[in-house]
Amino acid sequence: MDNEGEKKMTQFPSGFLWGAATSAHQIEGGNTKNDWYRWETDPKRIARLKAEGKNPDDYISGSACDFRHRYREDIKRAAEELHTNAFRFSIEWSRVEPEEGRWDETEIAYYRDVVKTCREFGIEPIVTLWHWTLPLWASQKGGWLWRGVTARWLQYVERMVRELGNDVKIWITINEPTVYVGYGCLAGEAPPGFRNPWKAIETMYALSYAHAEAYELIHHMSPRKDVQVGIAAGLQWITPWSHNIINDVAAFIRRFFAMRWFFMLAKKKQDFVGVNYYRHFQIRVNPKLPRWGLFWHEPVERQSDMGWELVPEGLYHVCRWAWKKFRKPIYITEYGLADETDTWRAWYLAEGVRQAARLRADGVDLRGFLVWSLIDNFEMPPPMSFWPKFGLQTRERVWRSSARVWAEIARTNGAFVADERRHDAE
Ligand code: FCB
Repeated sequence: MDNEGEKKMTQFPSGFLWGAATSAHQIEGGNTKNDWYRWETDPKRIARLKAEGKNPDDYISGSACDFRHRYREDIKRAAEELHTNAFRFSIEWSRVEPEEGRWDETEIAYYRDVVKTCREFGIEPIVTLWHWTLPLWASQKGGWLWRGVTARWLQYVERMVRELGNDVKIWITINEPTVYVGYGCLAGEAPPGFRNPWKAIETMYALSYAHAEAYELIHHMSPRKDVQVGIAAGLQWITPWSHNIINDVAAFIRRFFAMRWFFMLAKKKQDFVGVNYYRHFQIRVNPKLPRWGLFWHEPVERQSDMGWELVPEGLYHVCRWAWKKFRKPIYITEYGLADETDTWRAWYLAEGVRQAARLRADGVDLRGFLVWSLIDNFEMPPPMSFWPKFGLQTRERVWRSSARVWAEIARTNGAFVADERRHDAE
């Protein structure tokens, strides 16, 4: 390699993690014993979908990507064809403990094998313990508001660390607590389905307590000295649409709930910050708009199939915010877009990596970058469906052409994009 190439590569140290992210309920298939499946198959929801002329099968997770049976092939291809060295997945609590106190050994063995398969192919497994789905038995007792839930949660965490702890260095306790509370407890658009600010606050406290206790427990139980525990925070880049006192205050409030709230409760209990970044919000107060007029304006040229505003630069801002605030290593645990035609993805990924290089150049201890998602899946943001296509590949396991960009980035440890920047500058 020429000197220039080598210099560029040092922007990302060796061992930097490049990968793709997933979650259990979204890809495994057959997860019928949790609260999401119950929600998806609710007869009223199905009737409403039919009345809207939609095919309910597109809105029920069902067999999803059949990862439960195809995981070996998927992990092998992530290593050999996508050249990635990290893979984020989650454990489905309702699979390993389908009834309170009854452990399913076959399903535990399956997760052991997922982790082993990662190791076999040189992939660092990044394991999420809770990605929004609760076992039905726990949700029927009140979910995160049930008094007994933390004790059960900790038994589950303990069991998983005992089973997988030798091979798992990076644990994520909870995925996007604030987003979960927003959809599930304020908007009522996802389980648990409240529209109740008090319950939202209680749920937030319960989640932060669950995280803090799990943090201690994992450190106590893990056989690995190098174990790292954190959360994956859903961070948005939030700016006022135009500067005036009202918009500025509104943006501040929204930033508080989106970024600060959970961290205030859990900030001392994290070895790294996991950042999920998807979108830019421009906040303006306009009484004509719904939801207290605290809405966003999207006059945007580049938006995803979800209508989310695509601003890669926001990745830089949210990671920098997290770095300044906590001075902890950062992993980008999700970054991606719904783009069925693959119009923007190659650009969006390459730009994201440029922002990552910028962060490293500014001294931010960024250690990994994971794309959402390895595969088109059952997307959890409402309306919960298969139609948003976030995958580097389709469910039929056909790579989109942008996957080649990610593969080259991973293979060259980021140099692929840094080199392109050189061309841009010329
Ligand atoms: C995030 C979720 C993830 C995925 C993306 C699109 O909020 O963490 O599971 O569905 O949105």
